[in-house]
Amino acid sequence: MMNCVLARHILFACFLACLATDCQGVANYYIGAGIADVTGPAAEVNMMGYANPSQKSHGIHMRLYSRAFIIADAAKTSRVVFVNVDACMISDIMKKKVANKLKTLYNGLYDETNVCVSGTHTHSGPGGYHRYVLFDVTSLGFVEESLDPLVDGIVKSIQNAHNNMVAGNIYINTGVLLNSNINRSPTAYLNNPPGEKAKYNYNVDKDMTVLKFVDGNGQPLGMISWFAVHCTSMNNTNGYISGDNKGYAAQLFEREMNPGSLPGEGKFIAAFAQSNEGDVSPNTKGAHCIDTGKPCDVSTSTCNGKPELCVASGPGKDMYESTKIIGKKQYEKAKELFDGANTLLTGPVDYRHQFVDMSNQKVQIDATHYATTCPPAMGYSFAAGTTDGPGSFDFTQGTTTGNPFWNFVRNILSKPSRAQIQCQHPKPILLNTGEMSFPYPWQPSVVPTQILRIGELMILAVPGEFSTMSGRRLRNAVTEIATQQGLPSNTKTVVAGLSNSYADYVVTYEEYQIQRYEGASTIYGPHTLLAFIQKFKGLTTAMAQGSTLSSGPSTPNFPSKLISFLTPVLHDSPPLFRSFGDVIKQPKSKYIQGDVVKVSFISANPRNNVMSGKSFLTVEKKQSDGSWKTVFTDADWETSYYWKRTSTILALSVSEISWKIPDQQPKGTYRIRHFGTAKKMITGSLKSFVGSTKSFQVV
Ligand SMILES: *[C@@H]1O[C@H](CO)[C@@H](O)[C@H](O)[C@H]1NC(C)=O
Repeated sequence: MMNCVLARHILFACFLACLATDCQGVANYYIGAGIADVTGPAAEVNMMGYANPSQKSHGIHMRLYSRAFIIADAAKTSRVVFVNVDACMISDIMKKKVANKLKTLYNGLYDETNVCVSGTHTHSGPGGYHRYVLFDVTSLGFVEESLDPLVDGIVKSIQNAHNNMVAGNIYINTGVLLNSNINRSPTAYLNNPPGEKAKYNYNVDKDMTVLKFVDGNGQPLGMISWFAVHCTSMNNTNGYISGDNKGYAAQLFEREMNPGSLPGEGKFIAAFAQSNEGDVSPNTKGAHCIDTGKPCDVSTSTCNGKPELCVASGPGKDMYESTKIIGKKQYEKAKELFDGANTLLTGPVDYRHQFVDMSNQKVQIDATHYATTCPPAMGYSFAAGTTDGPGSFDFTQGTTTGNPFWNFVRNILSKPSRAQIQCQHPKPILLNTGEMSFPYPWQPSVVPTQILRIGELMILAVPGEFSTMSGRRLRNAVTEIATQQGLPSNTKTVVAGLSNSYADYVVTYEEYQIQRYEGASTIYGPHTLLAFIQKFKGLTTAMAQGSTLSSGPSTPNFPSKLISFLTPVLHDSPPLFRSFGDVIKQPKSKYIQGDVVKVSFISANPRNNVMSGKSFLTVEKKQSDGSWKTVFTDADWETSYYWKRTSTILALSVSEISWKIPDQQPKGTYRIRHFGTAKKMITGSLKSFVGSTKSFQVV
């Protein structure tokens, strides 16, 4: 039976034999799974996602990770890499840097064409990692110190996966997960054709798709689940770095499969990936007016005309409980589908990748009509934000007419041409980003499209946020052309959202007419989706026919130094007669299970060292031989690490650490330690320090 993994041409025969007897030793693929820390600066950096300039990092609730899966066919002739990153999205410079590093490390085995990097869409990670101006505005420009840990961690997770590769199998399973997502722009969805809507039970996708990876002996290696829901359970006031609902789901799954391991150190890797979540919110109580508690106006998402009062929340009593509930639901469904998965993937590993200039794609609407996509532009409703994170100006969603004042301001930045206005119609243009190139481009025109194939599964890697119906149309179009072109009739598709680059939202032509936030942020005009569908059909056809594709146009040149207004850390100081790491607040001597331990230390700016793969805190338990064993880190849900400046002039700061003692926590003697790095005045040299509390009892 072991010959099966070596000779591809007899694989199918082996597979039949395997069905007839048992599957031990038959491995269809070579598989590797790896994880690495990507947590960025835990202070003073704007969080990516809500575009709220006052939402800056000030500590860590959960660390952010990159989880990589390498899949090669049994003969190792072809391989693909799927990487799921706790990041709001993947920027094109992030992907480029990752691909360049991989090229050097592996001599071409991995490059941008066979590696898909996808973001979970957490809105609680440090931002500024884009080249295009618009995406860096609220982070005060480009933030290298946010980008570097992401690039290094993504590469490291792929290296770990590469070093772990073993012969194995992949099972697929799909199921329905209810009460975990709602449509946040239902009036736009409603505008889709009745016949199309009638084919679906819900106005969001409730399906979760799970891949189960096992080694040749059937031992579990890892899991990927795709489920469409925004990672916006934590709202736009949160300053703790967090993986949000998907990050928590991953922590629960990995804890169960890696008993006794600290986060990021277990062998089993569980990735909760994003899909067509464009119009999908996790805040299942829906949008209400925060002043009156009544539902908001449904078509504009306002209360008395004000968008900032209309906020969605739930299902929990606060954002932490909501994150926990939505995360747990995804974990439980994924675990159930993982345990029940028994459909084996068989067949080739393949991929196609092509850049496309989305600003001028000709699309065929019907037998006789053609149209084109447009250079990027953002509509008025973009500035209204969403009910997950409303904007703070007087913009409202569902706006199809402009306003003279804002048009005046817009024209100072860039006055849209008549052709651009017509092309983007009915979107009133607020930011004519496609025609803005000072100091460099504001939004991308050239973006990557990519399909990874693993046997019967096609992973459609899209560089943005597809609405529910857009994702369905894309999947259906690919499935149809795939089977027409001779790919297996049981071909399955998943949309991998926020992959490889970022070009905002993609809604259907009908949803675009309503100009909710997602329509206003569909940047290439009303035919954006159709253009993407054409491209993905092209990728599918090329794959089915075994033909190669040109790499497509190249992205524009950027200056080697991108603009940044974020000030660096100047220096850190302890107060007079005190040292870094000194305890300001000691624990009590005794706690019971369920209590929260709160301590604080004299500290320094966490930006001095992001502590990749390490921790700013440890909860340690005393062992019978007198040594201390770390039982929780800053990555765990139960702990939180909060940093605050206490004097800017004197460069003083404090770190507050809390630990919620779990109900099942073993009794015994514990202590909490804090790790940090301080920056010296004048020389700027960095020095690490550690502090420890007195020991305390959990009784
Ligand atoms: C964010 O959530 C907290 C509860 O955790 C709530 O007090 C606050 O009002 C929310 N803010 C917004 C803008 O949603």
